[in-house]
Amino acid sequence: MSINTSQPSEIPDAAVLQDIANQLFKTLPEEVPKDFSLDPATHPKAWGVVEHVLGGNIPSKIEIPAVNPVSAVQTPPAFGGFGGSSTGVSSLTGFVPVIENVASPSAVNPPYTSGIPNSVAGSGASPSYAKQGDSFNINKPETSFPDENIASSKQQQDVRADPLLYPNVQIPFFENVSDFLNINEVLQQIRTSEPAPQIPSFSDRFIPNSYYFLPEDAFHEKVNYSSFGGSLGELVRKDFPILEERVNGRRLIWFDNAATTQKPQAVIDRISYFYQHENSNIHRAAHELAARATDAYEAAREKVRAFLGAKSTNEIIFVRGATEAINLVAQSWGDQNLQAGDEIIVSNLEHHANIVPWKRLSDRKGLKLKVIPVNDDGELLLEEYAKLLTPKTKLVAVTQVSNALGTVTPVQQIVAMAQAVGAKTLVDGAQSVSHMPINVQAINADFFVFSGHKVFGPTGIGVLYGKEEILNATEPWQGGGNMIQDVTFEHIKYHNAPNRFEAGTGNIADAVGLGAAIDYVTKIGMEVIGQYEHALLEYATHYLKPIKGVRLIGTARQKASVLSFTLQGYTNDEVGKALNEEGIAVRTGHHCAQPILRRLGVETTVRPSLAFYNTHEDVDRFIAVIQRLSSRK
Ligand code: ALA
Repeated sequence: MSINTSQPSEIPDAAVLQDIANQLFKTLPEEVPKDFSLDPATHPKAWGVVEHVLGGNIPSKIEIPAVNPVSAVQTPPAFGGFGGSSTGVSSLTGFVPVIENVASPSAVNPPYTSGIPNSVAGSGASPSYAKQGDSFNINKPETSFPDENIASSKQQQDVRADPLLYPNVQIPFFENVSDFLNINEVLQQIRTSEPAPQIPSFSDRFIPNSYYFLPEDAFHEKVNYSSFGGSLGELVRKDFPILEERVNGRRLIWFDNAATTQKPQAVIDRISYFYQHENSNIHRAAHELAARATDAYEAAREKVRAFLGAKSTNEIIFVRGATEAINLVAQSWGDQNLQAGDEIIVSNLEHHANIVPWKRLSDRKGLKLKVIPVNDDGELLLEEYAKLLTPKTKLVAVTQVSNALGTVTPVQQIVAMAQAVGAKTLVDGAQSVSHMPINVQAINADFFVFSGHKVFGPTGIGVLYGKEEILNATEPWQGGGNMIQDVTFEHIKYHNAPNRFEAGTGNIADAVGLGAAIDYVTKIGMEVIGQYEHALLEYATHYLKPIKGVRLIGTARQKASVLSFTLQGYTNDEVGKALNEEGIAVRTGHHCAQPILRRLGVETTVRPSLAFYNTHEDVDRFIAVIQRLSSRK
């Protein structure tokens, strides 16, 4: 630490000493007076420190110099213990520890493009705080606020840009796409291939408004996958090391993508890099790694924002997964806003995660839970949905893709119909985000949730998107560190979103890993992925459907990824085991969606579910097993 000294002995001058002592005492819980005095001259012990260090050689009047926080104190002591502080603390300015606007460019630019993290090391405050609209009252200082009264962080960044002081930090695979094992080849082949003009764009086919009214043929046009310069799956699978595993002597075929997806090397490397070079808690400390970790985490939030097409990173809350996100909405927004007699609508297609939280809330608060029915193909009946909507409808919560059947639902239309009666809406995107482009502003739901592990990211990280004004009007779900502006024993003031919903230390590394997964699929393109998978699903359906004894469960005109079925003469477990013997992984069971399976007359199914790293050869091997089983009966 470099200190402005006024004495040849290098002993700091009294003013600086007193201020440092004062800051130190403020960090001790028992030292913080209730009426939060920040005047160093008033602190009972600070003067004693000055006397001790200067040995009685004290000027009669202490001058408090206006000190440039960069040159005077390059790494000032953190205000540990009250959640604020940073390099942005100009500790000697006007006796008040003011906290600089720490808005980091990391929210809009990827980190480390200049070789250094973008946020101020040790800011102790999330860059996102500065964008939340939290106000700062200099007369009643509360922590982690932006403050216009002191200089921008540019000076600190200039210091940090010095390569001697801060050697370059590079994430090798971040900017250099060649570090994706095979992605350059994939992109080259996709982009230099002849486009297939006969294929309507994915979004054209999936515009929800037109979904139920397109002629049958429009859903079944053949996608010529050779237009991708070969099979996309064959090209990208080399990026997924686990797909080289052998199971029962055969190359693994991963057809359990609706349960979880496999991870590309880029994601594995990114998480590993985080723990090797960046690991720290975020938002809280005055050191380099805290800045790296904070930048990496907030950069991931920006990637999610762009991936979902959200307006602001303030609308992106990191949670454990889609299930936690729905529970968060039920227990915070739902608990706060729903009264006895209010109605919630879900669909018959829902995963238990989008049923149980609403059922529990309904039971507890005397709400009515209504269900949108489906036809025998597993398609939602919108006419019946229209009849369920009343002025008492306060929430409509639906899935975008059914995990058990693969049905794609017209969420944009469902949301618009709910809004017509003033209801709020939640869309469960757990099964859709890995198969189609998402734009939450186009869908216009109030909440959208997904899990990172279903989109080639790590487990234990997921996202709640919510419209900013709704999030900021909603009470936090959990209380703890990092979600408050100020805490006394009498009063608590919360941050705005996203921090108000991110109490405690979150899953930092896996949020960063999710960002890498989003980079990976974005570079290929969600439209390309969707088209390829659509072709693969049609191919598999074409060969599975006619096999004797096969009953397809879920035959919606518009489906993604999932191919549920039963095989006469075999239990579903027997089919699953036979597939496993050939190295083919599928899920068998009720898929945590019992209501829809019962509606279609079964308790369980065999459920292969596809992703873009699956190939036509994978499907051929799968079909061969089912044909063999069928022929034995
Ligand atoms: N929800 C996941 C599935 O459908 C676990 O398998």
